[in-house]
Amino acid sequence: MPCHGKSRCATILAGVVVAAACIVTAAAAAADAGLSTYIVHMSHSAMPAGEGFTERGDWYASSLRSVSGSAAVLYTYDTLLHGFSARLTRAEAEALEAQPGVLLVNPETRYELLTTRTPEFLGLNDGALVPSSGAASGDVVIGVLDTGVWPESQSYDDAGFGPVPTGWKGECEEGNDFNASACNKKLIGARFFVTGYEASKGALDVSKASRSPRDNDGHGTHTSSTAAGSAVRGADLLGYASGTARGMAPRARVASYKVCWADGCVSSDILKGMEAAVADGVDVLSLSLGGAMSDYYRDSVAVGAFSAMEKGVFVSGAAGNAGPGAATLSNGAPWISTVGAGTLDRDFPAYVTLGNGKTYTGASLYSGKPLPDTPVPFIYAGKASSSNSSRGALCMAGSLIPEKVAGKIVLCDRGINGRVEKGFVVKDAGGVGMVLANTAASGEELAADAHVLPGSGVGEKAGNAMRTYVSSDPNPTATMVFAGTKVGIQPSPVVAAFSSRGPNNVTPGILKPDLIAPGVNILAAWSGSISPSGMARDNRRSSFNIASGTSMSCPHILDVATGRPATPFDIGAGHVDPNKAVDPGLVYDMAATDYVDFLCAINYGPAQIAALAKHSTEGCNTNRTYAVTALNYPSFSVTFPAAGGTEKHTRTLTNVGEPGTYKVAASATEVTVSVEPSTLTFTKAGEKKSYTVSFAAGGKPSGTNGFGRLVWSSDYHVVASPILATWTGPA
Ligand SMILES: *[C@@H]1O[C@H](CO)[C@@H](O)[C@H](O)[C@H]1NC(C)=O
Ligand SMILES: *[C@@H]1O[C@H](CO)[C@@H](O)[C@H](O)[C@H]1NC(C)=O
Ligand SMILES: *[C@@H]1O[C@H](CO)[C@@H](O)[C@H](O)[C@H]1NC(C)=O
Repeated sequence: MPCHGKSRCATILAGVVVAAACIVTAAAAAADAGLSTYIVHMSHSAMPAGEGFTERGDWYASSLRSVSGSAAVLYTYDTLLHGFSARLTRAEAEALEAQPGVLLVNPETRYELLTTRTPEFLGLNDGALVPSSGAASGDVVIGVLDTGVWPESQSYDDAGFGPVPTGWKGECEEGNDFNASACNKKLIGARFFVTGYEASKGALDVSKASRSPRDNDGHGTHTSSTAAGSAVRGADLLGYASGTARGMAPRARVASYKVCWADGCVSSDILKGMEAAVADGVDVLSLSLGGAMSDYYRDSVAVGAFSAMEKGVFVSGAAGNAGPGAATLSNGAPWISTVGAGTLDRDFPAYVTLGNGKTYTGASLYSGKPLPDTPVPFIYAGKASSSNSSRGALCMAGSLIPEKVAGKIVLCDRGINGRVEKGFVVKDAGGVGMVLANTAASGEELAADAHVLPGSGVGEKAGNAMRTYVSSDPNPTATMVFAGTKVGIQPSPVVAAFSSRGPNNVTPGILKPDLIAPGVNILAAWSGSISPSGMARDNRRSSFNIASGTSMSCPHILDVATGRPATPFDIGAGHVDPNKAVDPGLVYDMAATDYVDFLCAINYGPAQIAALAKHSTEGCNTNRTYAVTALNYPSFSVTFPAAGGTEKHTRTLTNVGEPGTYKVAASATEVTVSVEPSTLTFTKAGEKKSYTVSFAAGGKPSGTNGFGRLVWSSDYHVVASPILATWTGPA
């Protein structure tokens, strides 16, 4: 994106705010006008010989000096890429890109955390997984790149853990409010990366933020304990969801890499954090952060993840919370497991009964004094606001007229400002309760929040009924009843409305997200520096909090799963099923070279491929034909021209179970699916067998979709892949 200097160029893409390198604060712009951070990818084989460079760092510094007299290196990268980051003008960056040995110069980008706390500004994901094979889970190390960790949480209790795995090279870095003794045999590493953030935002104010691995936000503590928290009995949030809190892999070790600060996470820090994690020896990298999809070689998380994958590290990333619109995905590279969010069968109902006798079920984590049983006057914020634009209904700070809302329950529209913040606005104006009503943007997705006054979140339909009621009844009233924690009311899993949807618009031939996992109202450990609502003026503290987002689902994922009646755009291969994932029978195995073939298939040039595939250097062979349809992906995304046609995909299955014969069944709406051969017999473990699937269809209007499944079954195993067909282009 061509933007530089003091210009502020944030592109709003389907609800995700993508900040390019050119976002600079006023203070930083004044300090170094026209400078932005760039990540410079160097060719590791191109260091000139005979010029006295003994270290790559000398070569980088010399390249940098040739374009800028003053720029200093922020970070040198040497594990997941070769190169460095530095503050440069746009002209210097362009001059550098023309230098010998320089592959690419990428402007730094900003990533966001992927919780739904502030619904209009979502972004990151994190997650933690268990590798499908290898070490016993006590030796698995999950590296979480996030907002840091609250080490005193009981979720990092190391009782019963053996010594730190041999070969672990991580550190427990000291800093503000953080001693090296904070780590133990459960939390085996904690580091922080702030150089890139401070270079663009100015020095951290250590009276407000810990310049250390300490989590001042709660997100990193929540995601890492969801991934691998030790079991904690009697956990709850203000009395809700009480029970035992435990991570998906409670025997795994946690290493925390703080790369996200008050104003987001910058790619120069994220890349250095990923490098450190891989060098330290993590088995899994979990990233609940994300940005907009861009070409994979421009996306630092995709760049870092490729090299991590080459080194055998499993990388999971949150799909993002920009749903339910199409093509709202982040972290869509095929070498990242992209996790969407679904629901659990646990609810926090809060019933709202109107003066006309109608009752609506909302959701709430309010725990204070209840409202009286008697009807309370009810008013729409849009009719009690000093702002008469459509924003008047949003309960923005200072917008409500106290004489109109005093003693009343206020109906606020969801969106723009924080959900708990709206409750503060109502309370400040003298309101006694709040109903937070969804609009089309959030649909029927219920947000359970720890409101500061009696409050309930309701879906769009209930919200519309209430909007009609308050404007038609001369004396509207409401009552509100909080029913606590209920299990098994709603069918689950259901895809969350906020969960970002496919297709992957960089490569529509790759189906994303790969799967969904629980991501709505997840209870996990929380930071002691901040209230459960995340608001500074909220004085409540809780060791646990309930949060939603693909940030929360990412730490749950394991492997393939069963299909569900949502479409593959929404959920990929289906909802995660940990029990089946442990013994799948057959797997679609992929090596780094398969992904390089994929990069050749999407016509990436040598520099672009080298920037991603540092350890797989063969490149593209001009004698070969490459096809996205040949990537051994465990799902099928078929793209037809509007006139229809035929597409062939090839796949290879590897037997990881007992010997056996598998038969195929495949079908999809709108499409004829045939598989050759239709039977595969495996006689030993590790054996590989290939098959070809032909998809044939007639003409359809552009935008039509077909959905289906391809299933290999033996007496013991069912290995299912989703099929998605899309018609595009003119008829
Ligand atoms: C760090 O250690 C010092 C010395 O033992 C102690 O006074 C301080 O409270 C510790 N800080 C934290 C955050 O644990
Ligand atoms: C808002 O209300 C004020 C005063 O009631 C009025 O002057 C103004 O035109 C209104 N604006 C809109 C956009 O309706
Ligand atoms: C491509 O094929 C030609 C002719 O068979 C052969 O000479 C050449 O070495 C091949 N190139 C590569 C990169 O394999």
